[in-house]
Amino acid sequence: MSDDRLIIFDTTLRDGEQSPGASMTQDEKVRIAKILEQMQVDVIEAGFPIASVGDFEAVRAVAKTIKNSTVCGLARALDKDIDRAGEAIKPAASGRIHTFIATSPIHMQKKLRMQPDQVLDQAVHAVKRALQFTDDVEFSAEDAGRSELDFLCRIVEAVIDAGASTINIPDTVGYNIPHQFGETIRQLIERVPNADKTIFSVHCHNDLGLAVGNSLSAVLNGARQVECTINGLGERAGNASLEEVVMAVRTRQDVFACDTNIDTRLIVPASHIVSSITGFPVQPNKAIVGKNAFAHESGIHQDGILKSRETYEIMLAQDVGWSDNKLILGKHSGRAAVKSRLKEIGIEFDTETALNAVFDRFKNLADLKHEIYDEDLMVIANQSHTKNDNLRYQLVSSWVCSETGEIPRAKVVITIDGKEVTGEADGSGSVDAVYSAIKAIVPETGVLELYSVNNVTNGTDSQGEVNVRLEKNGRLVYGKGTDTDIVLASAKAYLDALNKLAVEIEREHPQHNGV
Ligand code: KIV
Ligand code: ZN
Repeated sequence: MSDDRLIIFDTTLRDGEQSPGASMTQDEKVRIAKILEQMQVDVIEAGFPIASVGDFEAVRAVAKTIKNSTVCGLARALDKDIDRAGEAIKPAASGRIHTFIATSPIHMQKKLRMQPDQVLDQAVHAVKRALQFTDDVEFSAEDAGRSELDFLCRIVEAVIDAGASTINIPDTVGYNIPHQFGETIRQLIERVPNADKTIFSVHCHNDLGLAVGNSLSAVLNGARQVECTINGLGERAGNASLEEVVMAVRTRQDVFACDTNIDTRLIVPASHIVSSITGFPVQPNKAIVGKNAFAHESGIHQDGILKSRETYEIMLAQDVGWSDNKLILGKHSGRAAVKSRLKEIGIEFDTETALNAVFDRFKNLADLKHEIYDEDLMVIANQSHTKNDNLRYQLVSSWVCSETGEIPRAKVVITIDGKEVTGEADGSGSVDAVYSAIKAIVPETGVLELYSVNNVTNGTDSQGEVNVRLEKNGRLVYGKGTDTDIVLASAKAYLDALNKLAVEIEREHPQHNGV
């Protein structure tokens, strides 16, 4: 691997999925993996196969589908984890096992209850075992950010000798500061005698908002793989965001001695897909992919932009996938036009059924809203491709009466496991009445912790996008709904979250127990 290449290792499907409420189905993981592959992500970490049968099957499905990126499975430094990961990545054209064990004093003493030498032996054993399945083995020293440098050097040297071709240095708890984290990487590369036989990688969490800063500092000090996620999804405050790392390196080629292979024009479509599948909204002021990232509201800025773009813009919106030609299609546009525009904005379907379902939604939307923008297309394309009859709750119809001086009232008809049920209720407003009507017929709704509405495009005929978060017995789920009628969008978002709550998920968390 030449020194001027920065490997992008995306862990949206593994660490990203560890964000509370962000769990994804096999089908959803495959959809996200496909756009990551199209973006030319080098390594896709598809999951933690030992966690559950579902996780194993999802990693296997991604491994079967993806041809141009390496597909990786996570495994603790345990035989059973490694064997399961090895089995899951077997169908991959290029497969990697990523095995890890904690190396910080606090983790070794309190979590593992192991001596440093035992940890080192187990790490070496794990790498050797993983090599029986693939010659592409990555080792992570969990909580490296709080580990002692001497021990870190020792364990890194030993696992490189054992055959690990990538060494990942995670700041697991997001504790590091950029200059210090960069120095750790520099020292490791300088002090470990066989450092030239491996690629140094970093994996930073965002607890202090420094995940991207720490990752970039590591790159400046010799790291050549960054682990990151779309929209910065991930455990707690998330991981380094892929779009920020990639665009910082691409935009500041005067500072970085390397660049990625990423096709940046697919960044915004990928962000939309991940947000719509997980239900996690993207904050409007989020760098690169937030709605306002390229919006110039203030008069002074606009004037500056009109005179010369470079006065306030350091990147081109189109380079990251925001479209300049936004008004595109209407009621009379045909299937071919829709298909071709979808392709231009990075969305392709491999079955006719999936494309037909999107085209039907396009026609329905075009009947209500005359001008269909790229943002509208992304929303309808990212809704589930096929009707899912397995969902417990499905909306049949809703009726709302809201009149000045009267208490709003709603009637909602839904199917619960295929059986039609009707609920009616009053509320403080139309949305509240609809939610109360649903609560009247759904036995366990949890607590509604978040409700927000955003418009997809401008104008009162825009689709409204509603995001909700429900909590039940400590479990969080997100729901999303879109419709030109925000009361219907609200009902859809609520039912989406309730459907997720209805699916019990039993899975092991990679970092909470075991080694
Ligand atoms: O944050 C972390 O340390 C991890 C490891 C499993 C790499 O996610
Ligand atoms: Zn992590």
